[in-house]
Amino acid sequence: MKITYHGHSCVQVEIEGKSLVIDPFVSGNPAAIVKPEDIRADFVLLTHAHSDHTLDAVPIALNNNAPIVANFEVATYMGWQGAQTIPMNIGGALDLGFAKITMIQAFHSSGMTDEENKVIGYGGMPGGFIIEAGGKTLLHAGDTGLFGDMKMYGELFNIDVALLPIGGQLTMGPEDAVTAARWFGAKQVVPIHFNTFPFIQQDEKSFAVLLENAGIGSAYLQYGETLSV
Ligand code: NI
Ligand code: MN
Repeated sequence: MKITYHGHSCVQVEIEGKSLVIDPFVSGNPAAIVKPEDIRADFVLLTHAHSDHTLDAVPIALNNNAPIVANFEVATYMGWQGAQTIPMNIGGALDLGFAKITMIQAFHSSGMTDEENKVIGYGGMPGGFIIEAGGKTLLHAGDTGLFGDMKMYGELFNIDVALLPIGGQLTMGPEDAVTAARWFGAKQVVPIHFNTFPFIQQDEKSFAVLLENAGIGSAYLQYGETLSV
């Protein structure tokens, strides 16, 4: 399993030559080094409706003839824009053959806006994904605050790598992310959803120290960098 960071919460997971792209937001991210048209995807996974997770989903899905996997409401909305979709919901799993994807809970919101940014519609429940492939387990927590059932997921899954938001304000910050990592039982953590905007500035080095003090591995990925597990 190869995990490439495209900034904010966007990661590309490559398994047996297949590419899963989670939460594509690059055209709206001034620091992004990849363009939506250069991203290859077999599936596009969306954790929730917010535009900093979904902005480039439809163009990438259409370019690649790739279905969008999302909660029922987000999938329906993306379907209206011409994308193929696979609806899921929390607690459900999807067997793609080369990987099994489970949608898990996130404690956040998931409203979606119209094109003029004036109407917020119901975007279903926010979630995260657990991806199991080749004996490895990856968690993408989506946007979330700390919640007690992270312990339940830690009991149910053997998480090798957790992608956790650490930006604060809109999600948990670094201290809670360390607790989340502990509760998820994650062996290694990659911080996401920080430094994209001025109000979610965090220092990845001090986060790595917090993880280290908790006995958890850390892997900071620069934009475009790949972690192999
Ligand atoms: Ni969000
Ligand atoms: Mn977000």
